[in-house]
Amino acid sequence: MTTKQTILITGATGSIGGGAAVSLAKRGARVVLLGRKLERLEARADSIRVALSEAQIDYQDTDIATLVVDFSDMESVRLAAAEAMNRFPKIHGLILSAVAQIPKKGPNILPSGHELMFATNLMGPFLFTQLLLERMQQSDGLVLHVIAPYYKEIDWDDLESIRIHSPMTAYERTKTCHRVIAAELARRYAGRVSSVAFNPGFIFR
Ligand SMILES: NC(=O)c1ccc[n+]([C@@H]2O[C@H](COP(=O)([O-])OP(=O)(O)OC[C@H]3O[C@@H](n4cnc5c(N)ncnc54)[C@H](OP(=O)(O)O)[C@@H]3O)[C@@H](O)[C@H]2O)c1
Repeated sequence: MTTKQTILITGATGSIGGGAAVSLAKRGARVVLLGRKLERLEARADSIRVALSEAQIDYQDTDIATLVVDFSDMESVRLAAAEAMNRFPKIHGLILSAVAQIPKKGPNILPSGHELMFATNLMGPFLFTQLLLERMQQSDGLVLHVIAPYYKEIDWDDLESIRIHSPMTAYERTKTCHRVIAAELARRYAGRVSSVAFNPGFIFR
């Protein structure tokens, strides 16, 4: 069994999740890359292996793992959480960096009745986190919420921005809600799990 810390990274095929994955792997973590497509995850895992080899850092194949999940689909989230619980006896960290930013006119309503950005950016990651919290408490775990430099007032009567939908407002509201969830998680699980909101500023690959 590995002695490395196990860190799950959502949005690992993206800019910030991908950067976090390679940096953490270089610092000696076992990284688990989460995303919707296995091929994309494997390509990202290969690029991390190359980066480790170039830096002359030893690693085992199992130090870079992948886990398929679609955060817009709560059934997929439940299956992925169950798989994570089976495969990873210890979970030290969870980085929430997956995001959907849909510029086209919406709302984009999923078969579940939920709005796509709301489900992907909030509901799925929230459910996934909840399902792993008990396991993470056993390792003084850290949940890192990648937020954004936006603040948009939440409309409690139209939380998912379905009734009145402007793509940018809907997106910014999900990021505002994400801040609220990060703070509330820190309050509720104080002393058991750390919950930190991280604003990366603007970063592009
Ligand atoms: N980049 C910036 O300048 C910037 C600035 C401020 C805040 N942020 C925040 O930083 C975080 C990451 O942004 P980024 O720029 O790295 O995003 P990105 O490059 O667009 O990557 C988005 C990631 O989300 C994943 N994703 C999208 N829909 C998904 C779904 N339904 N289920 C699972 N995964 C899904 C994608 O994975 P697959 O497509 O492979 O599934 C991809 O890895 C976001 O929370 C964003 O709000 C970024």
